[in-house]
Amino acid sequence: MEICRIVFKVLVCWFPVIFIHFDGGVMGFHNIYPEYQSLTAVKVNHSHKPVYHFQPKQNWINDPNAPMYYKGFYHLFYQYNPKGAVWGNIVWAHSVSKDMINWIPLKPAMVPSEWFDKYGCWSGSATILPGDKPLILYTGVVNPKPEPGYQVQNYAIPANYSDPYLQDWVKPKNNPIIKPTKENVSAFRDPTTAWKVNGQWEMTLGSKVDMVGVSYLYRSPDFIKWTLVDHPLHQKENVGMWECPDFYPVSVKGDKGLDTTVTEGDIKHVFKVSLDSTRYDTYTIGKYDTKNDRYIPDEGMIDSWASLRYDWGNFYASKSFFDPSKHRRIIWGWANESSTKTESVRKGWAGIQLIPRTVWLDPSGKQLLQWPVTELETLRGKHVKLINEVLEQGDKIEVRGITAAQADVDVVFRFRGLDKAEEYDTKWDKLFPPETLAKSICHMMGTTKQGGLGPFGLLTLTSKDFEEYTPVFFRVFNTQDNTKHKVLMCSDAFPSTLNHEEYRPSFGGFVDVDLSENKISLRSLIDHSVVESFGAEGKTVITSRVYPTLAVGDKVHLHVFNNGTEAVTVEKLDAWSMKEPRMN
Ligand code: FRU
Repeated sequence: MEICRIVFKVLVCWFPVIFIHFDGGVMGFHNIYPEYQSLTAVKVNHSHKPVYHFQPKQNWINDPNAPMYYKGFYHLFYQYNPKGAVWGNIVWAHSVSKDMINWIPLKPAMVPSEWFDKYGCWSGSATILPGDKPLILYTGVVNPKPEPGYQVQNYAIPANYSDPYLQDWVKPKNNPIIKPTKENVSAFRDPTTAWKVNGQWEMTLGSKVDMVGVSYLYRSPDFIKWTLVDHPLHQKENVGMWECPDFYPVSVKGDKGLDTTVTEGDIKHVFKVSLDSTRYDTYTIGKYDTKNDRYIPDEGMIDSWASLRYDWGNFYASKSFFDPSKHRRIIWGWANESSTKTESVRKGWAGIQLIPRTVWLDPSGKQLLQWPVTELETLRGKHVKLINEVLEQGDKIEVRGITAAQADVDVVFRFRGLDKAEEYDTKWDKLFPPETLAKSICHMMGTTKQGGLGPFGLLTLTSKDFEEYTPVFFRVFNTQDNTKHKVLMCSDAFPSTLNHEEYRPSFGGFVDVDLSENKISLRSLIDHSVVESFGAEGKTVITSRVYPTLAVGDKVHLHVFNNGTEAVTVEKLDAWSMKEPRMN
């Protein structure tokens, strides 16, 4: 393993450009395997199947669509292939829940049926119109050519508003309501929730012009007649196609969520895009200038592939919604499998939705904070605790007594001070492109390279003799001007499995956290093949998908560890076995 890391170092030193490509920077859209699209598995293999993350019984899923709260139920629609475990035959599957944790499956809300969506009902969003009337805007594919398809925007409405399950949806005959302009027929999709401004409805959707990411803006007096506004809501050069844009207000005071239609007051706006070229969800925070009808990122916001991310790991095509019942904004994100298509076909399933997260603005105004919805805690079963356990350099302590393959772990680490933090090497800033800097350092150093303050954290999904483990950890660096420390958070799939054919990325993100109290927290949601981790109370989030061969089921262990010369104390660790919810 160490040899691999050395080879990596050499590669990166000499060929940083190659590294960008290793990072998946050239993929784009979904892989299409016509031969597997309609191959339904006779038997589903459960060995790596998550238990408390949202998923159907079998087959492929991708983007969460049109999440909403209606008459006491949360609704989640999602891109689903009813016939196979790879992308294709896409319909809008539909489930409802009282708590976003236990789910009842319903029949698909929309399947390709009309000329305006004959080749696919693709992603979209819900808007709750006055009078508590939900309406869905979605992308219909009218022709498979040009690839990945000729795209238009449609709407659908409930057949019966008094049905809280909203089981039947009608696609009115006056669809499509928006057609693409000539230049962007196959890059014109994923309409957002609409908002009202200056007396009109507005919404945006994702597109590109060459490598310029564009979010076209549409305006309507009645939600039926839409006109293209003469400038986009936002655009950015050198980023490529923007999929699944999301645009919403956040309060600058406190953590309460706001309805998408709020455009005035003590607020900022978040503009999120799913970068097709890199397959990451990035966002900026800024101002919605309602007079000129433009979004302007705040001064100092990075607006490129290197922007802030909701999640520095496997997380894509997210969508937020306002939950009026608890005054919060919630985001749903999709995690695909990182194993191969043959594995997905063999298992008979692919893709999960991550645990819904409440999202709000950090008091600094410079980033968002995220936390799993509190309803998740109803699944907590058996509980174990560690208090004030000291970890010297090289120590590991096992957390015993819970189902380590299916757990929720919340820990606070404390240290004496920052004196021993190792020097941050500024060479790295030149060596790695900014969008892969954090993960590159994580990969280069792993957990085995001893540090000063860190690496310390959790070893999740560990086999008995540590042949396999997925570490989630921090490293603290001293910056040269000595005024600030750089905190790196890593979630490293590299040592996660002995099956080296799996994609085993080291993910990483910096954590903009104040360490003056000499503490940092970490919460990890472990669910068989997914580890979803929240650093420093939701400042930095990283999701890894992993496929151990030995660390499976009841053979899984969990540890806290420290490999820095500075001792680290586990001030408090709570870990729970997680129960199985009703899952579709
Ligand atoms: C994102 C995406 C969307 C599209 C949908 C198709 O993953 O490519 O842009 O609408 O998936 O399933």
